[in-house]
Amino acid sequence: KIIILDFGSQFTQLIARRIREVGVYSEIHPCNVDPEKIKALNPGALILSGGPSSVLDAESPQLDPAYLEMNVPILGICYGMQLLTHTLGGKVVSSENREYGRADFCGTGGCELWQGIDDLEKLTVWMSHGDRVESIPEGFKICGTTKSIPFAAMANEERKIYALQFHPEVAHTECGNTIISNFVFKIAGLKADWSMSSFVENTIKEMREKIGDAQVVLGLSGGIDSNVVAVLLHKAIGKRLHCIFVDNGLLRMHEREEVIDFLGEHFDLNVKCVDAARLFLDKLKGVDDPEKKRKLIGYTFIDVFNEEAQALKNVKFLAQGTLYPDVIESESFKGPSAVIKSHHNVGGLPEHMDLKLVEPLRELFKDEVRKVATELGLPEHITWRQPFPGPGLAIRILGEVTDERLEILRQADRIVQHELHATGWYRKMWQGFAVLLPLKTVGVMGDDRTYEHVIALRLVDSIDAMTADWSRLPNDILARMSNRIINEVKGVNRVVLDISSKPPATIEWE
Ligand code: XMP
Repeated sequence: KIIILDFGSQFTQLIARRIREVGVYSEIHPCNVDPEKIKALNPGALILSGGPSSVLDAESPQLDPAYLEMNVPILGICYGMQLLTHTLGGKVVSSENREYGRADFCGTGGCELWQGIDDLEKLTVWMSHGDRVESIPEGFKICGTTKSIPFAAMANEERKIYALQFHPEVAHTECGNTIISNFVFKIAGLKADWSMSSFVENTIKEMREKIGDAQVVLGLSGGIDSNVVAVLLHKAIGKRLHCIFVDNGLLRMHEREEVIDFLGEHFDLNVKCVDAARLFLDKLKGVDDPEKKRKLIGYTFIDVFNEEAQALKNVKFLAQGTLYPDVIESESFKGPSAVIKSHHNVGGLPEHMDLKLVEPLRELFKDEVRKVATELGLPEHITWRQPFPGPGLAIRILGEVTDERLEILRQADRIVQHELHATGWYRKMWQGFAVLLPLKTVGVMGDDRTYEHVIALRLVDSIDAMTADWSRLPNDILARMSNRIINEVKGVNRVVLDISSKPPATIEWE
């Protein structure tokens, strides 16, 4: 196995993911973990991630020399390279030209990391750093440069310590996967023996050990993430898993019948449906601030949960379908990255919560969860459901959430879903949905003036929700959606299309 020490980079999980993709098991640990604990795991290699700190800052996370004494291959990436340099006696300086994004890298031959790369003299790589290495430690050789930095890669082959200033884990770095494979197989000599089925097997085993004979409650939302957690945990602890489906009044049309009832019947899950729609909608009265809505819904959810869980005996855990992108946008190691949105699964948890969390999917990206779902035998209509946010339609109704506005959005959204399924676009895109805007505009219907609501269509392509672009749907499909919404949904007289990418926009409007 490979241990990744996390120094706070936004890309740490991508490193883990790349390693999973080549079939090797990896674990991420915070950089300040006790090295003895890591040693006991008997790692085949260590990777030091990037991070937002500067090694020149006295407060910055350091590298415990114990790691260097473990005698395992090490790969330092970005901050990891600077840390190795700093720790082993080289020099790091702060650079006037911060370097972000694309750079042309020229690798020098003879380094095992570059095996199988043909065009080594001009490789496009992705950089993101302020400091740079000015002199490399003794025993190291330079393995590559860019125009702005003379030491963009270095190696001590005898000690099997390698370091890269660029990020091989991001998709924009050419041959990044080859570089990672070379480190994993050629240098560390590991074997590809990990797969989604071993993930499923290991997770079930781990969950069984962690939970012991306790009972677990899980919030089933209807989305693929919580469904997968439910089926995984059901395999681990059977009927000691109590799924609670909270109808918060913010669901899409027929959501409950399509998923919750189906799962209960076909997978023999223990599911209880709680009708809390009025509670949520009353709390949301008069609230139009997006973060307030998110937090309020998050807290209310947990309250309903705690109450339901208290009715059960010996419940010690709350299971959640948190995925990696939810984690990274809400928190990170030492919290250096900015909070973009309080995700319902993470940011909304009250501190006094008296249940421990179980989050078996916390390290995965959405497309990996779909692979797990297939592995578990979930049917296509569940595996391929597009993501739906925890706070539901509340964050797709800009401004106050009212019964009337919910009804309008539900009807418009059903038309969007219907057209996407009918044209085969549903599976081709990441998410397609309707948003209700907080304004009215003038229109004409028959010979009369109308003054009614506006619906925006949000149709996006994405691989992992970290970045997204608007889907280029054929105009005739857009035209049909617009026509149907205006004609069939009472109270709407205009439809607009959102053509922004993420970043700088986000997928949801709130
Ligand atoms: P944004 O709007 O941040 O959304 O670009 C990224 C992805 O996450 C979904 N999303 C959520 N999922 N709880 C969730 O479980 C939430 O609070 C939440 N907010 C956004 C969103 O639908 C998109 O797929």
